Amino acid sequence: MVQCRICGGPVEEFFDFGRQPVSDSFVTPQTAGSEFYFRLAAGVCAECTMVQLVEEVPREQMFHEDYPYRSAGSVVMREHFEKYAHQLLGTELAGEDPFVVEIGSNDGTMLKTIGRAGVRHLGVDPSAQVAGFARAEGVRVRTDFFQDGSAREIAAADGPANVIFSANTVSHIAYIDSVFRGVDALLAPDGIFVIEDRYLGAIIAQNAFDQIYDEHFYLFSVTSVRAMAERFGFELADVEPLAVHGGSMRYTIARPGQRAVSAAVTEHVERERETGLTRPETYHRFAQHVRESCRELVRLLTELREEGRSVVAYGATAKSATVINYCGIGPDLVPFICDNTPAKQGRLAPGTHIPVRPSEDFAKPYPDYALLFAWNHAEEIMAKEREFRAAGGKWILYVPEVHIV
Ligand code: SAH
Ligand code: TYD
Ligand code: ZN
Repeated sequence: MVQCRICGGPVEEFFDFGRQPVSDSFVTPQTAGSEFYFRLAAGVCAECTMVQLVEEVPREQMFHEDYPYRSAGSVVMREHFEKYAHQLLGTELAGEDPFVVEIGSNDGTMLKTIGRAGVRHLGVDPSAQVAGFARAEGVRVRTDFFQDGSAREIAAADGPANVIFSANTVSHIAYIDSVFRGVDALLAPDGIFVIEDRYLGAIIAQNAFDQIYDEHFYLFSVTSVRAMAERFGFELADVEPLAVHGGSMRYTIARPGQRAVSAAVTEHVERERETGLTRPETYHRFAQHVRESCRELVRLLTELREEGRSVVAYGATAKSATVINYCGIGPDLVPFICDNTPAKQGRLAPGTHIPVRPSEDFAKPYPDYALLFAWNHAEEIMAKEREFRAAGGKWILYVPEVHIV
């Protein structure tokens, strides 16, 4: 049995997706087949309850020059980060010469608002192409992995950070002990470390199994993040549920005793206990539902093909790598995926090699059905593509179960 990366306790495996390619490796027709494969399996720690992968993908296989994901691909996400940047500017960053560091700053969607306000900031992100987009927005970026050593260098050069912010990135870092040592070296005595990520409670409740993939090494809950913060010498001071990405949580971490611990923390821990998030049976039931959903999805797509209906997919998400590779969905069932990310267009989705085409191709002509891989952006996409429905088109979703709308 593998040991928990947080506490060393035993990790009980609850789902094995088998051999899977790196989720964001959109290959060219020439490089198809060169994807890095690993065994994607998730487990839950019997001691601290942290849900985590049992096998780690070397970080350079995931985050490099060619890493294609862009935060700016969703208007909802752009507004979400802009709003939080303004909130920070009005509170934690309102003092004299504040300094903020973002771990996983990507294309600068969050920091550009901070930069425009003239506040000292630094984004840290190892993926060179997306870091370049951030620089083009006037954001200062260190193209690097955040960890113990890089954090010490930042602290020496720029001084302590009042806020260390990180959205959808800390969960990607298996070597989390090093991250916390880095935060300890860099964070001002009364500073805050804010983590925002997909919420395990929402993932289990909605059977959102595709949130399990290489980059999501951890799936956070309030219970497990509190245990993690304590393990590494910090305190979880506040939590705030967020609607983005199908259900997220914002965790505010501080040095012990520096911030009042809000009632929301204990309330969520209690709710997680009540809803069974800390019990193994929950994960066995989840595993059962995943198998059912995948069978149902393949059955539906096969039936539609036999009936001669056209189906294309929408949103070449990292999440969909789990779906297409576990279910065995290739171009025979779904001829292409529409996506607005230039770095994914003209490429092939990892593993089953479904071609990715620009969003504009969606209407040339509209298919009978559209499989929504970016279900977490359903509202935004369905609003943008309302003419598809008006023309008689139907969306296929598989979260919380396979259904047609
Ligand atoms: N914060 C953005 C981007 C999330 S994608 C958002 O929420 O939309 C995750 C980002 O983390 C990628 O840009 C990736 O390059 C970066 N990343 C991965 N490991 C990292 C590490 N150890 N330190 C800093 N950034 C990292
Ligand atoms: P997302 O679900 O945010 O993340 P992940 O890759 O981690 O699963 O990815 C959304 C994808 O969908 C991204 O490739 C951009 C694309 N997209 C569109 O093509 N059109 C849109 O309107 C939106 C919101 C996203
Ligand atoms: Zn543990």
